[in-house]
Amino acid sequence: MQAIVLVGGEGTRLRPLTYGTPKPMVPIVNVPFLARTLERLYEAGIRDVILPAGYMPGAITEYFGDGSRLGMKITYVIEEVPLGTAGAVKNVEEHITGPFFVLNGDVLTSLDLTAMMRYHGEKGGLGALHLIKVDDPSAFGCVVHDAAGRITRFVEKPPKGSEPTDEVNAGTYLLERAVLDLIPPGRNVSIERETFPRLLAEGYSLYAYTTADYWIDLGRPEHYLQAHRDMLTGAMPFRLDASESAVAAGGAGIVPPVHLGAGVSIDPSATVGPHVVLGPGCRIGRNAVVKGSVLWEGVIVGDGAVIDQSIVASRSSIGAGASIGAGSVIGHDMVIAPGSFVEPGSRRGPAAPVVSG
Ligand code: GDD
Ligand code: MG
Repeated sequence: MQAIVLVGGEGTRLRPLTYGTPKPMVPIVNVPFLARTLERLYEAGIRDVILPAGYMPGAITEYFGDGSRLGMKITYVIEEVPLGTAGAVKNVEEHITGPFFVLNGDVLTSLDLTAMMRYHGEKGGLGALHLIKVDDPSAFGCVVHDAAGRITRFVEKPPKGSEPTDEVNAGTYLLERAVLDLIPPGRNVSIERETFPRLLAEGYSLYAYTTADYWIDLGRPEHYLQAHRDMLTGAMPFRLDASESAVAAGGAGIVPPVHLGAGVSIDPSATVGPHVVLGPGCRIGRNAVVKGSVLWEGVIVGDGAVIDQSIVASRSSIGAGASIGAGSVIGHDMVIAPGSFVEPGSRRGPAAPVVSG
């Protein structure tokens, strides 16, 4: 079995974080998100992964290389212009030899891929789609199916109040190779809006694989923080890599659950936690307070600074006495002046990507 992980999106809703780091490389508890996805594929016995990329692909290829470090074979196919979720799949057609998984590159889930393979084997048809029930289906692709699981309709991001169901496309598909024949080459094609509806219109079958797994789309800052809370509390089961340091068990000023990267230094008078992840080399000053937040590597927090429910990207520095209001997102290499007040929900970062290729 092969897998295509879609990693070409620009991550616009995560800006300014994605001006310096492409979405698949955004750290989830200090490990690039894509590494966690690849681990899950590996556990399901999948060793052959194709990555259609396009936005900042260099950051991805540099980290994962040919995949041998993970015991996998990774093939990169770089899009000159974004081809969309189906166009990207069509574009890697020459590498696909049989049935294959397609994964949205920004979904964190406990879905059991092996069980999904079994389900597809039982149901047949051109594919199985993982569905999940959510509170606000209007933000996703609604998928309607009959009692036998056969999908009858796709409604992508319907206006609030008009959702036909609370079951949504969870971004994992198991497809037969024949699906590739239904995607036109050489242009932008959306699998959700064009390919899946066309497949139904032509009389082919797709089946709904609805589960009650942990599931979250990391595409928005509030979901990114939620995912961290869930991993820290154990609501989302995940495995810590041997190279990751243990979850801090408490101690001077540390309020669990907290996860600390290597080489972090915290002044004994500071308060860190609950629900905090500090990247490698972060330094937290005297009487500083960090709660409900994720700091990437090398972030410096000055004496008396307060960071609440926010994300701070790599190497930024929060001046002494500064206060970062809840829901803020601070991009890479930013300097927040001492004593300043960053309003809740602020975005501070460069106006455009700072890393290319
Ligand atoms: N290679 C490539 N090329 N990848 C792309 C492109 C492209 O042109 N466009 C998007 N992607 C990747 C993104 O990087 C992401 O991993 C995935 O495709 C889905 O794109 P998003 O932009 O995150 O879509 P969404 O979250 O609004 O909606 C999709 O996901 C929902 C579940 O999370 C849809 O599939 C919805 O139906 C679904 O409910
Ligand atoms: Mg998404």
